[in-house]
Amino acid sequence: MYPVRHPIVLGLQYGDEGKGKITDYLARQAQHVIRFNGGSNAGHTLWLNGKKLVTHSVPSGILYSHVKNFIGAGCVIDPQSLERELQEIATSGSVMDGARLKVDYRAHITLPIHLALDGGRESVGVQGIGTTRKGIGPTYTTKMDRCGIRVEDLFKKDLPQRVEYLCKTYNHLLEAAGLPESTLADNMVIAEKAGEMLRAHMSTEQVPFWDIAKTEKCVLEGAQGVLLDLDHGSYPYVTSSNTLASHAAVGTPFPLSKLGAVVGVAKAYQTRVGSGPFESELKNEDGERIRVNGGEFGATTGRPRRVGWLNLDELKLSVRLSDCSHIVMTKADILSGEKEVKVYSKGVYKSFPGWKTIYDGASKDKLVPELANYIKYIEDFVGVPVAAIGTGADRNELFWPHGPVDFWGL
Ligand code: GDP
Ligand code: IMO
Ligand code: MG
Repeated sequence: MYPVRHPIVLGLQYGDEGKGKITDYLARQAQHVIRFNGGSNAGHTLWLNGKKLVTHSVPSGILYSHVKNFIGAGCVIDPQSLERELQEIATSGSVMDGARLKVDYRAHITLPIHLALDGGRESVGVQGIGTTRKGIGPTYTTKMDRCGIRVEDLFKKDLPQRVEYLCKTYNHLLEAAGLPESTLADNMVIAEKAGEMLRAHMSTEQVPFWDIAKTEKCVLEGAQGVLLDLDHGSYPYVTSSNTLASHAAVGTPFPLSKLGAVVGVAKAYQTRVGSGPFESELKNEDGERIRVNGGEFGATTGRPRRVGWLNLDELKLSVRLSDCSHIVMTKADILSGEKEVKVYSKGVYKSFPGWKTIYDGASKDKLVPELANYIKYIEDFVGVPVAAIGTGADRNELFWPHGPVDFWGL
């Protein structure tokens, strides 16, 4: 047995890069899949045998009965959304009991007041940034403000007083926006239900992976993307959590010396939902065609995603910010049939001849030269190998240009 170090899967762009698919692919070999940031703003799509499942708060190891899924301390949990998610998973035949889904006792709970604050902020004039309206910003705000509700608080006697204090402290913002206040009763109904649902799932381990990380294989699954990171993304058009690889250690918590490969997922082009800068955006029929071919509509909100060519300066920045060791470039198949494919750097586009198909020949062991050239150019530009290329939505639709990688054995 070699010394195990564990891979982190994260997005290198503005979210929706295909992290769910890569996590699901790696989960086959793992015993634990761990989310370390975000909440129900995430939408991670898994395809298996023609059936689709979108995970939001639940980690993307759920399709395997041998995998234990863990929602880390750095995450936020909307109990109403999680309940819907668990019901959907149950109808697809998986039972997420207390053994298969654990929730850290320190994760924060999204209550109706957080949803109202997010929706209110987005609706009132200039302050909106196009959030998912899932209460993410307000839940992290009240966490920072030390008046949030953690999973463990749901089981404490003074829960009503804590919820009352939260409502008292933040209702004035709803009032200022001309919106009805969020009542203690409405918040308590949800908090009590959340307690019932989460009781069997709560983990009270302070360092839950200290021993596990020495022997069992884990995958750390990020949500959103590096360019949406609260500190290092395109502020203020960002999410309210840290999305970088370094946060995987904090948001779990996971022993730092046991983290290994940083698998950065990027599309062969680029998309963004919500507001914010997008230098290489295609606001023409090319963008529309790629949006339709790529099914670029949000997995959480259904909003059309903005589409553009790959911004290599941003990709290089993301690779550096997250200390990425491997890139997985998804959706190369979506660009098949494009006459030309472009990349963007410092205000200039470079054009590449497009590819009609992914593979050179029926044996599927070699890429067509046009795609191989495109990948090589990107690798040289950002200085990190493209370990795998996404050739379709199914978990197995991956090609490994430099051969297979054992992400735990590096
Ligand atoms: P995530 O949030 O990063 O997990 O990504 P999403 O699930 O929000 O969006 C990615 C979309 O692309 C989903 O519909 C996936 O099924 C799909 N997808 C992922 N990889 C590939 C790929 O290589 N090719 C194609 N055609 N679709 C892919
Ligand atoms: P996954 O994990 C794409 C975007 C929102 C908005 C900004 C802030 O599926 O990649 P928030 O609701 O987090 O306060 O919104 O961040 N956003 C995402 N975009 N994929 C996501 O998650 C996202 N999560 C948040 O659209 O621009
Ligand atoms: Mg998504």
